[in-house]
Amino acid sequence: MTMATKDKTIYICSNCAYQSQRWQGKCPECGEWNTFEEKRVLGAKAKPGRSGAALGQILALSEVGELKFDRISSGVSELDTVLGGGIVPGSLLLLGGDPGIGKSTLALQVALNMAGENSKVLYISGEESPQQIKMRSRRLPDGADIQVLGETNLETILDTMVADHPDLAIIDSIQTLNSSEIGGVVGGVSQLSYCTNALMRVAKENHIAVLLIGHVTKEGMLAGPKTIEHMVDTVLYLEGDRFLSLRLLRSSKNRFGSVGEVGVFEMTNEGLQEVANPSLMFLENRGSALPGSCIAAVLEGNKTLFLEVQALTNPSSFGYPKRATSGFDVNRLQLLLAILQKSLRLELNTHDVYINVAGGFKIQERAADLPVALAILSSFKNRALPEDLVAFGEIGLLGELRGVAQADKRLKEAEKLAFKNVIIGGNKGKIKGNATFASRVQELVRFLE
Ligand code: TYD
Ligand code: MG
Repeated sequence: MTMATKDKTIYICSNCAYQSQRWQGKCPECGEWNTFEEKRVLGAKAKPGRSGAALGQILALSEVGELKFDRISSGVSELDTVLGGGIVPGSLLLLGGDPGIGKSTLALQVALNMAGENSKVLYISGEESPQQIKMRSRRLPDGADIQVLGETNLETILDTMVADHPDLAIIDSIQTLNSSEIGGVVGGVSQLSYCTNALMRVAKENHIAVLLIGHVTKEGMLAGPKTIEHMVDTVLYLEGDRFLSLRLLRSSKNRFGSVGEVGVFEMTNEGLQEVANPSLMFLENRGSALPGSCIAAVLEGNKTLFLEVQALTNPSSFGYPKRATSGFDVNRLQLLLAILQKSLRLELNTHDVYINVAGGFKIQERAADLPVALAILSSFKNRALPEDLVAFGEIGLLGELRGVAQADKRLKEAEKLAFKNVIIGGNKGKIKGNATFASRVQELVRFLE
């Protein structure tokens, strides 16, 4: 048996982190030239515990002092809610999202609002010149004066941050920074990790909160914000359809609060406006009830949102039926189709099925199973569901419908908004209110008669 007992050398592409046993001129993964860097890996012979390094200091947990922090309000209350009460001094936040979705706009609004509350904010931009930032700020509601710095060199930025000592530094965007200390392409994996690490150290040592903006990239030279998610304290994503005005702000990681809370915004001519009561916002463009449409009640944080799920079924022209989704997991759709086909003996295997969640939003909750199934049945049978119908519930493999969390809350919201037909998966149990309960998919057909 051969074992890697000796130390060995591996080569890592500084652009895409591809690993290779030998040095290569061109990276087979990303196609870049001269990007391989040497790295030594300790073999099995290098026994741990014998390196001669100084010993670390162990503490009893009971002796460790409590961490106390006063949060600072970002001046945008929906953002404060998502963060769990505001920005923690010295923390590192990442704001990701597609290009053009409104990240710079949100960051600038935060900067202007916080400056108005006597916090010192430094806006560092490598994407836009100070003049462009000024132009953008003219569109936004008046705020106080902020400091701007047009710079991309990491070392200059760090020194300026330490000297200027703002409460919040905004870096727009992390992908434009480059350090002269290491090689690699600007925006590549090694530059991105190195810059984030250096910023984190400066943030913690100087108690400067740092908001990093990162573009989601589909492919290409720039590494996406996912690469640095593990290093930062809080990860925020701004999402939505850039051609529509609604935006959702979610946190997918938060070392200083819970995740799952969402903020809802509307992009207007004067920047992002907070939407305090978003329940119906997503239904605004809905026409009269047509076959293939069903309203879903989904929970986002502590908000109930009513979203329109659309389904389209058509006989397939080729042997293999097509399944495509927007805003809904395509694997979940495959599963739901298999369940409907088996339980209801429907020939869905000879039909193409498309699912779209109106408004450009993604539904992750299982509670959408039932409305998705209803939309599919409605399109398949070419019969519209009642206009004032809303549904939620999970579907199991055997065609059984199951209850979901906080049914009471969803039902109450639906009643408030005058939905007359509320269909809930599972049993009534302790749920109060006026609703129809269904426990098997076979029962769904009657809503289409
Ligand atoms: P931006 O913040 O530049 O996006 P990102 O930084 O995520 O790439 O926002 C870009 C879009 O927002 C742009 O198409 C213009 C629009 N916008 C408004 O509709 N209203 C406004 O007040 C501002 C400042 C921008
Ligand atoms: Mg921008």
